[in-house]
Amino acid sequence: MVKLGVNIDHIATLRQQRKVGYPSVLEAAKIVEEVGADQITVHLREDRRHIQDEDVVQLKKILTIPLNLEMSINKEIVNFALKVKPNEVCIVPERRQELTTEGGLDLKKHYKKLKTTIEKLKKEGIFVSLFIEPKKEDVLLSKELGADAVEIHTGKYSLCKVGTKKFQMELERIKNVSKIVLQQNLILNAGHGLDYNNVKPIAEIEGMNTLNIGFSIISRAVFVGLKQAVEEMLKLIR
Ligand code: PXP
Repeated sequence: MVKLGVNIDHIATLRQQRKVGYPSVLEAAKIVEEVGADQITVHLREDRRHIQDEDVVQLKKILTIPLNLEMSINKEIVNFALKVKPNEVCIVPERRQELTTEGGLDLKKHYKKLKTTIEKLKKEGIFVSLFIEPKKEDVLLSKELGADAVEIHTGKYSLCKVGTKKFQMELERIKNVSKIVLQQNLILNAGHGLDYNNVKPIAEIEGMNTLNIGFSIISRAVFVGLKQAVEEMLKLIR
């Protein structure tokens, strides 16, 4: 069964607008957990625009499902992760000016730093995933770097209108790369931009392990509540 990681960054985005302590990230995480999602995902950004260090510390304390921390290879953030020890880290590229993570990692450019970071994280028993573009070369490099998993960036796919030729092409690209991920004995995850309309074909990919989904779920929650928004997504992917 495909697992759902709910990214709750945007509960914190709303909280940071007023900085009066609500809506609570911990309360959101508890609801997500109770509904039956498989993991909580948060991105601790270098500019701390939404999730704060203390959120991660507290989430690690209260959660009974795994905590997946998305982060860059910034030294300070890596040291924080080594201290807090989330169950899983997903290494992502980060640009301060971006609205959201725009693409997969440049594995060649950051090869050395990634290698030492992955080694350090794994030494602490943290499961390591790399956020990559759906490219064969990046899967092979992820394996070489010693990652446990890859998360395929579905951003381009998600921007295509469902059912169009371009949509089918992007889907095929992701499917083909997914096969290589499994051949390399890496865990196959995917995420970014997935919503209630486009999630099904990705969830149906053979061997898919976890989908990390945030913005669409939190947006739907504004109208129907977080419980129902997560339930609807779980129903679609399972
Ligand atoms: N996976 C990764 C690695 C991400 O960086 C993000 C965005 O923080 C997501 C999944 C979730 O993307 P979205 O909010 O578009 O569902």
